[in-house]
Amino acid sequence: MGIRLIKIAGVYFVIAILMGMYMSMSHQFQLRGVHTHLNLVGWVSMALAGILYHLFPAAAESRLAKIHFWLHNLALPVMMLGVAFLSYGRTEFAGIIPIGAIPLIIGLILFVVNLFRNVK
Ligand code: HEM
Ligand code: HEM
Repeated sequence: MGIRLIKIAGVYFVIAILMGMYMSMSHQFQLRGVHTHLNLVGWVSMALAGILYHLFPAAAESRLAKIHFWLHNLALPVMMLGVAFLSYGRTEFAGIIPIGAIPLIIGLILFVVNLFRNVK
């Protein structure tokens, strides 16, 4: 679980820094919100979760970790898609954001509950 999350986080990191490079080179900063959250929720938070799961196997083996894993991985791309549409002014797609963000937040809270229960 930990190792898998660390590797997926690496993929987000590459995507996010390439996006940062594109924004810098093109002087078009609409995707800033996507870049920010791919870096912080995709790379930083996911890698941190992976490292913690690796350090604390009891946390990694719990059901909460599995739920967190799937919510984090399925919901973040959906939220990012919604934010990307909104960034380009496509407000008709703004409804996609909460469809991703709410499960993502639930997944991240369950991750913290898991830390309190199983990191000893
Ligand atoms: C190395 C490649 C990176 C490049 C080329 C890059 C480029 C950029 C650019 C062009 C912006 C928009 C600035 C603006 O709107 O004025 C930005 C914003 C931002 N970046 Fe990056 N970035 C990189 C890596 C990172 C990393 C590794 C993180 C975090 C782990 C990060 C976090 C942020 C945040 C939080 C913002 C928003 C800042 C704000 O709203 O003031 N960036 N980045
Ligand atoms: C998971 C649910 C999250 C939601 C729904 C969310 C939503 C938002 C929204 C609406 C903004 C303002 C964007 C703007 O004014 O353009 C924002 C900005 C920001 N968020 Fe989040 N966020 C989430 C998670 C996080 C997490 C976990 C981090 C850090 C680890 C983070 C870091 C930031 C930063 C640094 C900014 C300001 C930079 C910017 O304007 O691009 N967010 N977020």
